[in-house]
Amino acid sequence: MAIIDLKKLSKVYGFGDATTIAVDEIDLSVEKGEFVAIMGPSGSGKSTLLHIIGLLDRPSTGQYKLDNRNVSRFRSGKRAKARRDKIGFVFQNFNLLANMTALENVALPLAYKGKGTLRRLNQASVMLAKVGLQAREYYYPHQLSGGQAQRVAIARALINSPSIIIADEPTGNLDSASSKVIMELLKEIHKGGNTILMVTHNPELTAYASRVLYMHDGKIVVDQALKKNEKADIDELQKAHQEQEKANAKKKKGANNA
Ligand SMILES: Nc1ncnc2c1ncn2[C@@H]1O[C@H](COP(=O)(O)OP(=O)(O)OP(=O)(O)O)[C@@H](O)[C@H]1O
Ligand SMILES: [Mg+2]
Repeated sequence: MAIIDLKKLSKVYGFGDATTIAVDEIDLSVEKGEFVAIMGPSGSGKSTLLHIIGLLDRPSTGQYKLDNRNVSRFRSGKRAKARRDKIGFVFQNFNLLANMTALENVALPLAYKGKGTLRRLNQASVMLAKVGLQAREYYYPHQLSGGQAQRVAIARALINSPSIIIADEPTGNLDSASSKVIMELLKEIHKGGNTILMVTHNPELTAYASRVLYMHDGKIVVDQALKKNEKADIDELQKAHQEQEKANAKKKKGANNA
């Protein structure tokens, strides 16, 4: 059964002449345990789509079923709860709170669960050790390297044992050595049974994914399964997209002439 199921999902920003269709009637089904890489040019709607899937934002129209529950119309309180229980986020710029230590940042998502401070910090400490940062518990974000900051962010994303990890260009600000550490961590998390959706501009990183989606103008124009360690070929994705456009134009022309 699909863990994520989207039907004709759209997100429209603005009004009148200033309207942007950021996500355009997307149908998408993701099974539990998939590792989905999302590619596509800037402005094609990748982040918007992830924000909706991650319950940070609501679709304008269409249906979103998460774990078979129709969450598209959830009000903010219910949406926040579902997000907390099921989803972990990793962002390009880490999004750590500057005035909190690594340990406090990781413990933060537990604050809503009514656990005592000591229990929360203990749990966060275990999670930081898992990402290899036991020795950095009391460091503030500005004292960490980019790679370390992202590992803290991953520990924070995992603290509530979410079933889905959403990562928007998680290695976008990292050098290649730190990127590798982060990707290997995501690989471990995936092996542990998590479903992962990751936006990336780097085709090399699709080697970690089991499926690649290519977006253009708010639509998923290519949806391709990847074998183990197989990388998506960005030229091929673009070509597949262009051919599809041509076929669509032809069809349209045919329909107009009929
Ligand atoms: N809050 C907003 N208000 C108005 N328009 C928005 C908003 N957020 C996104 N958009 C528009 O929606 C479209 C898709 O944006 P989105 O951020 O999803 O693209 P993206 O594929 O993630 O791009 P990038 O690769 O640059 O991160 C863009 O045209 C953008 O300008
Ligand atoms: Mg984006």
